Amino acid sequence: MRSSYRPDRFTVAIDGPAASGKGTLARGIAETFDFAHLDSGLIYRAIGAKTLEGQDAIVAAQNFDAEDTKRDGLRTSAVSLAASEVAAIPEVRAVLLDFQKQFARRLGGAILDGRDIGTVICPEAEVKLYVTASAETRAKRRLLELRETNSEITYEQVLEDVKTRDERDATRASSPLRPAHDAIMLDTSELSIETALELARSHVREALERLDQAKAD
Ligand code: C5P
Repeated sequence: MRSSYRPDRFTVAIDGPAASGKGTLARGIAETFDFAHLDSGLIYRAIGAKTLEGQDAIVAAQNFDAEDTKRDGLRTSAVSLAASEVAAIPEVRAVLLDFQKQFARRLGGAILDGRDIGTVICPEAEVKLYVTASAETRAKRRLLELRETNSEITYEQVLEDVKTRDERDATRASSPLRPAHDAIMLDTSELSIETALELARSHVREALERLDQAKAD
């Protein structure tokens, strides 16, 4: 029988490189289990967008408001690259820690996706997934998204952007992109969204069942 146990606090951390599918998985899990969802990339995108308008990155981070993640135009290539630049600044990351940590441990359960959720924001997360896919697969997926608003963009440009961000995110000194030691690896290169989502859901269900069992023991 499936457990319907719901602890007060339950965190799912999903990390992985650009366009690996972690956002889609996070939204699907949030919907299935009724968890609050934070796409942490949008925070860096919102700050990156402000630097493109001439603001200082650290000042923009200090003045960050969750509403900023709802502004239009945060998915463009220019904003993606600006986001990965501001995300490499330790002071920017430090200012944003509290907001994300509190979100992770809110009552009712939370799912956060990003680069450092399982390693820095919430190492105590009950489920940690590290989602990957080849750079080529990720570039193809991102191209389909970007083509909706920009018909000029080419596969080569998107692949270049993805590789530039991968390199910057993985080699920065502050909270580099890497799997937590206890993360479950999920390579989505050959998986349909539905299959990847079903796998991710099964990991969440198992963790809930384990907690339910531990409570009963
Ligand atoms: O996930 P997304 O592609 O929207 O993230 C945009 C950029 O924000 C990433 O390339 C990365 O540099 C940065 N980021 C980060 N830490 C996170 C989430 C995103 O450094 N937790």
